[in-house]
Amino acid sequence: MIKIYEAKDYQEMSRKAANILSAQIILKPDCVLGLATGSTPIGTYDQLVEWYEKGDLDFSKVKSVNLDEYKGLEKTNDQSYYYFMHKHLFDRVNIDPANTNVPDGMETDTEKECQRYEELIDSLGGVDIQLLGIGRNGHIGFNEPDSAFAQKTHCVNLAESTIDANKRFFASADEVPRQAYSMGIGTIMRAKKILLLASGEDKADAVAKAFFGPVTPEVPASILQFHSDVVVIGDTLALSKMPR
Ligand code: F6R
Repeated sequence: MIKIYEAKDYQEMSRKAANILSAQIILKPDCVLGLATGSTPIGTYDQLVEWYEKGDLDFSKVKSVNLDEYKGLEKTNDQSYYYFMHKHLFDRVNIDPANTNVPDGMETDTEKECQRYEELIDSLGGVDIQLLGIGRNGHIGFNEPDSAFAQKTHCVNLAESTIDANKRFFASADEVPRQAYSMGIGTIMRAKKILLLASGEDKADAVAKAFFGPVTPEVPASILQFHSDVVVIGDTLALSKMPR
């Protein structure tokens, strides 16, 4: 079941999302958080850090698994998702770095890394709540529009539209890696709860298609219509093309 909540702007979306993640951490201190990168969750992470600093949140037993990582970027590269997570969350709260997990972008043996990541998620008992952003083309994680849904963690060739959207973080489009490791749609669907955030007008088409259109691998996020517990928090602009 999908519940959609409207926030008036990015800040309100971020606070609502942080409230849901905090409730999860308070109710189950050793929970497994599925985490995302990109512009969308930065405000949520900032809010969690603020509440941690106030003494309201304790990450000491929390475990995390990230959705994805560029292939071929070192952890020290400031565009790697490993770097992003440390900068925006892990280094700012009392999470044990040993309990945080991001796919290893420097592992060249694709099959080995994908299998390791799937087994790792299983060994943690699965994801309690998976935070997601959504791409302008409806991607979740790096699951791009395709003719079939990917079941498991896999190596993805990034779509031109994704390279184009992400080039703002690199010196030029040529420097954006062409491949990434990503949880599969099946991996994401196994999370007990999903929290998808969307902000801004450029996400409005993707949100409308994903939640009000047919379920199709051409719009990867549309599969979430089949998940039993999905919360979508969108700001007014991101929800502006939803049928009312
Ligand atoms: C990030 C991820 C991506 C982003 C999506 C939206 O880990 O998996 O699916 O959530 O590309 O990116 P932003 O938030 O930058 O618009």
